[in-house]
Amino acid sequence: MRRWAASVLLPVSLSACGGWQSTLDPASPGASNIANLWWIMFWTTGVLSTLVIGGLFYAVYRARRHARDEEGDRVGGTERGFILVAGAAMPTLVLISFIVLSVRTGASISEPPGEPELTIEVIGHMFWWEVRYPDHDITTANEIHIPVGAPVDVRVTSADVIHSFWVPQLAPGKVDMIPGRTNRTWMMAEEPGRFRGQCTEFCGVQHALMSLLVVAMPEEDFLAWISDRLPGTELDDPLELRGREVFFEAGCQSCHTIQGVSEPEFLGAPGPDLTHLAARSTLGGLTIENTRENLTAWILDPHHFKPGVRMPPSPLSGEDVGALVAYLETLQ
Ligand code: CUA
Repeated sequence: MRRWAASVLLPVSLSACGGWQSTLDPASPGASNIANLWWIMFWTTGVLSTLVIGGLFYAVYRARRHARDEEGDRVGGTERGFILVAGAAMPTLVLISFIVLSVRTGASISEPPGEPELTIEVIGHMFWWEVRYPDHDITTANEIHIPVGAPVDVRVTSADVIHSFWVPQLAPGKVDMIPGRTNRTWMMAEEPGRFRGQCTEFCGVQHALMSLLVVAMPEEDFLAWISDRLPGTELDDPLELRGREVFFEAGCQSCHTIQGVSEPEFLGAPGPDLTHLAARSTLGGLTIENTRENLTAWILDPHHFKPGVRMPPSPLSGEDVGALVAYLETLQ
């Protein structure tokens, strides 16, 4: 009995019905419409399933009694009417209602509630997200900052295999990210907060750790965040200057761009753009927090945190990695 209870209750308690990244805790008009449709379907099918199972038990009970009474089991007029109504008319009505509601919800979320003023490009990579603000000349990774209360135009594509963009609380459903094709969707946050997103198309060994963060902030904070993203800080600390040398010596720039630092032929390198690395709160697509210790350990052996990640381990001396991290921490 206890094992039965655990097997029923455990999945229920594990399927996060609240908190971040829950479809049932929407924070945007599009996500709310989807959640409402879900609740309508949940209660309708819940009530109907209960009635059907109840009817099944009743039928078994009646059949046993009839068997005892040795009565005939011919189907009478009442039964025939019941089968017609409950077995054919009701399901037809319910399914047609569901189709109408689904199509209406689909239409209502296909366009944002207003004309978006901000466009964000998100490019899927194995196993991280490139994030671009084309109007502001900003490129970052895995973390998207948006202003509260305004719809944002989101254009998604992929650099390698098919990924899928999904921020359950903010975006109207999932959108596939397909190489060579740009798909459009939109996002909107009705309140400030941090919202989690997840790749929802199996894309390889680290699909599960391909997560992203959307930070919704008041308009003035968002504008401040944008204007703070100025590449090319002046360095005077010898350790940081040494760190910048290590960036070149260790070959980091063949995979990572730093605006204003990388040599022109290496701009647009395949790995995450590091120009604003220190402004990000996590590393490896939300795998670990962006702290000095974690960044050091990540550079030395990223596979420890994310096996299968495309970044190779960097066999740097303790001195060099310390300098490199000190330099990377200046990249706001
Ligand atoms: Cu990218 Cu799954």
